[in-house]
Amino acid sequence: MFSPHGPSLRELAIQALSSVERGYDLLAPKFEHTPFRTPAPVLDATAAALRPFGPFERGLDVCCGTGAGVNVLRPLCRERITGVDFSSGMLAQARRTHQDATWVRADARALPFTGAFDLAVTFGAMGHFLPAERPALFAGVHRALRPGGLFAFPIGAPPPVTSARYWALQGFDLAMRVRNAVWRPPFVMYYGTGWPRAVSDDLAAAGFTVTAVPLPALGRREDGSPRGRLLLARRP
Ligand SMILES: C[S@@+](CC[C@H](N)C(=O)[O-])C[C@H]1O[C@@H](n2cnc3c(N)ncnc32)[C@H](O)[C@@H]1O
Repeated sequence: MFSPHGPSLRELAIQALSSVERGYDLLAPKFEHTPFRTPAPVLDATAAALRPFGPFERGLDVCCGTGAGVNVLRPLCRERITGVDFSSGMLAQARRTHQDATWVRADARALPFTGAFDLAVTFGAMGHFLPAERPALFAGVHRALRPGGLFAFPIGAPPPVTSARYWALQGFDLAMRVRNAVWRPPFVMYYGTGWPRAVSDDLAAAGFTVTAVPLPALGRREDGSPRGRLLLARRP
């Protein structure tokens, strides 16, 4: 699962017993060598699907981590690119790799931007927000965009209940709930709370007009439906 440059099991255990912010601070130096970094095929598929909607002026990567989304934003945006994350460790790595972007430390549930961006993206972070936290997250992105701005992110189709993957994700979420019931600080990361329907409804409730396009490069499920879609939430 991890390359030889990735974290050891002991390091992962310590991270898992920390808060989300502290956990990512600890993981940051080795994050690029973990499967938690959004893989290139997902970034490439997102960039390809967004191209017909561009070009854009200013771009924002929400929960940017070490900066995976910058490579999506750079060819699409004509002006400055900004990444926002609450882990200073992750931001330090991002700053080192992408010196041409602006890096802001902030909690995505209280984004400090108003009418500043034409395109916002996010990758690999939706599971860190409880359903009850999504309204604040989406309201902040809505406020950060100019009228007509677009918030886009890839989202996987829910696996069928009969698949091993479905039960593996349920097992992960159950372990996380037990961990959070007995240990403080909590580490919020759930797979089963952010399926497309629920997320789209929350985006619409935040004032976005929501559509989706398939990401065919990510493959198809047995029934022929796309494994991944790009959610497109436009601020009217
Ligand atoms: C799995 S990493 C993904 C990083 C990057 N977007 C990528 O795709 O490689 C999740 C990131 O979300 C950030 N994060 C989680 N909750 C956050 C919050 N409430 N505010 C800001 N950043 C948050 C973490 O610090 C971490 O950098």
